[in-house]
Amino acid sequence: MKIGSEIKEKAEILLEQLTLGEKIGMIHGDGLFRTKAVERLGIPALYMSDGPMGVRAEFENAAWVPAGRTEDYVSYLPSNAAIASTWNRKLAYECGSVLGEEARGRGKDVILAPGINIKRSPLNGRNFEYMSEDPYLTAEQCVPLIQGIQEHDVAACVKHFAVNSQETQRLWVDTEVDERALREIYLSAFEAAVNRGGSYSIMGAYNLIRGEHCCESQFLLNGILRKEWGYEGTVISDWGAVHHTREAAFSGLDLEMSVTDNFDEYCMARPLKEAVEKGEIAEELVDEKVRHILWMMLSLHMFDVDRERKTAVETRRKAGCYNTPAHRETVLRAARESIVLLKNEEERLPLAKEKLKKLLVIGCNGNKIHSNGGGSAEIKALYEISPLMGLRTHLGGNCEIKYVDGYYEEERQEQEGGANWQEDSLKEGGGKERQAVQVSEETAGKRRELLEEAVTYAKEYEQVIFVGGLNHEYDLEGQDRSDMKLPYGQDEVIEAVLEANPDTIIVMAAGSPVEMGRWEKKAKAIVWNWYAGMESGNALAEVLLGEVNPSGKLPESFPYSHTDCSAHCVGDFAEEKLLHYREGIYVGYRYYEKQEIPVQYCFGHGLSYTEFAYSDMTIEKRESAAEFGVKVSCTVKNMGKYAGKEIVQLYIRDKNGRVDKPVKELKGFEKVELAAGESKRVDIGLSGRDFAYYEEAAGEFQVVPGEYEILLGASSQDVRLCGTVRV
Ligand code: BGC
Repeated sequence: MKIGSEIKEKAEILLEQLTLGEKIGMIHGDGLFRTKAVERLGIPALYMSDGPMGVRAEFENAAWVPAGRTEDYVSYLPSNAAIASTWNRKLAYECGSVLGEEARGRGKDVILAPGINIKRSPLNGRNFEYMSEDPYLTAEQCVPLIQGIQEHDVAACVKHFAVNSQETQRLWVDTEVDERALREIYLSAFEAAVNRGGSYSIMGAYNLIRGEHCCESQFLLNGILRKEWGYEGTVISDWGAVHHTREAAFSGLDLEMSVTDNFDEYCMARPLKEAVEKGEIAEELVDEKVRHILWMMLSLHMFDVDRERKTAVETRRKAGCYNTPAHRETVLRAARESIVLLKNEEERLPLAKEKLKKLLVIGCNGNKIHSNGGGSAEIKALYEISPLMGLRTHLGGNCEIKYVDGYYEEERQEQEGGANWQEDSLKEGGGKERQAVQVSEETAGKRRELLEEAVTYAKEYEQVIFVGGLNHEYDLEGQDRSDMKLPYGQDEVIEAVLEANPDTIIVMAAGSPVEMGRWEKKAKAIVWNWYAGMESGNALAEVLLGEVNPSGKLPESFPYSHTDCSAHCVGDFAEEKLLHYREGIYVGYRYYEKQEIPVQYCFGHGLSYTEFAYSDMTIEKRESAAEFGVKVSCTVKNMGKYAGKEIVQLYIRDKNGRVDKPVKELKGFEKVELAAGESKRVDIGLSGRDFAYYEEAAGEFQVVPGEYEILLGASSQDVRLCGTVRV
């Protein structure tokens, strides 16, 4: 992101006026979510807020105590996993626009979103906040999302930079990742976020990389971000991620935030001021940080500068708004497109709405809301439609709906500190692996009763829908799962219910994949539902009842078990202090395909109620001295009787074999809407960089000249067309 010369000039006018104390006040938290204003010059405080799924509720300034107001209810947006699952750039933009407009409406300057860390393991507790295992898909979805946010004079704060792919010991894990994997897998979406997306701010991660804390890292912040990428935005620390005054001062970090209320004691507060006064640290280093913050403030139209009076003055800034019907409509459209139809044998879905007279819904997730949990992504949603609510409102009075729990969610493992968990969130390394729950006699008894009840009704009811999965006890900041198993004995319940009623529809609502091996073969229809925002239950009902044709595709592989995943069977995960990402670039489908490890559902998978046929692939090369480009096209035809949307995925396979590479890599996609019987031409453009890999010895992306296969398909495993191009 580049800042114009006019803004730079104006910032200098203010910078010259600022005292050291005033500057220091601008570069560290003076509240849990704000900096200090410089009233003398009219420079306001910078107000920040979480987070990815909506604007978080207000806290007291200096305590993690919810302010308890009635005016901080907001629109609850689909999680980033859900947004990625739409593979729809326009929708990502629109979701970003809702988030930005609501943040501004709530008086915020920076919204701490989106989360774009690569999903290295299915066990990461924060996977629901992240987009994908694939850097290309992450980049393509986060760029428009950031642009949408920033349309509203609010800064996005893309997080967590970088290689922050687990919660266990998140404060202290030092990541050992080879340069190629770093560049190709872990950094490329961040590069897109700041360069193409123009993110005004970026959040440094908690973990270390190559021996340096990310928020103090010369390598990451000064070298890669500032120097190589030419980033001119603001670098904000994760809350409590700064440990040393000197390192922080010398690094590209601009603003230190934390979770404790001793604001003056923060590394970049009094300690830094004293070090400057003693001449140990040059004031220019502080100036550089303030400069970045002023550039961002001016870009957001927080104020203008009166050149004569040399002060900040008011300017026109967008006011924002929240909880509008238009926002809810966008949230609903995104939720609809995020749902993934994993399996649909015997055309069990959609259900015939008119014929449905008695419906049984089993499973706690059918009757649950999720917006109020997950860690810093929690929000106070204006409302949230549960699956049960969605089904009831869509089926109306002619269908009797019965609900039973089916399984028992044993006592919550409260996050330490309850509502104030964040105050304690940095103790013991800042995160842990979830311990297996010991099932007490009492719980086992309750489970048995609920299972028996579910089975009895399942036999009686013609149509049964099971809604289970995870919740924010499992998809949770500060905690990784210990395995991919379904909690609360759900496997037994699903098996027994399928036995009693083989036509039962299975809905999994969760933020990360779960093991399905025990019952997947027996189930005829399986639907995947992410945490998809306030309208999630409506979107689900519409899909189940055929009012909406599902069009989401998995943004990550669903392995049979986490033990198949390269982070676990090749690299290190969890407790290690020095975490070796031994798997290198082989993350997600790149690994499963290379090692021929079968998965439950592959990357890019997702069915529709209609069928699409692919034909007439063409590859056009546009080559000039300055530029290399390829246009790949094909025709997609809707062969069925429902209108629907298809996501055409483009993968590149290097046929040269000169460099070790994945079997294929996603390098393009296009989502296309087709009426029944309609066909359309789909074009996907490729540039030179799409054929490149990171050559460590040269320290740059390079293309191996030769033949490349271009694969077009409906998923990573369902390739329909193939062509070759010489590069
Ligand atoms: C999280 C960030 C969040 C910050 C402020 C930290 O615990 O890692 O993602 O933005 O808290 O709440």
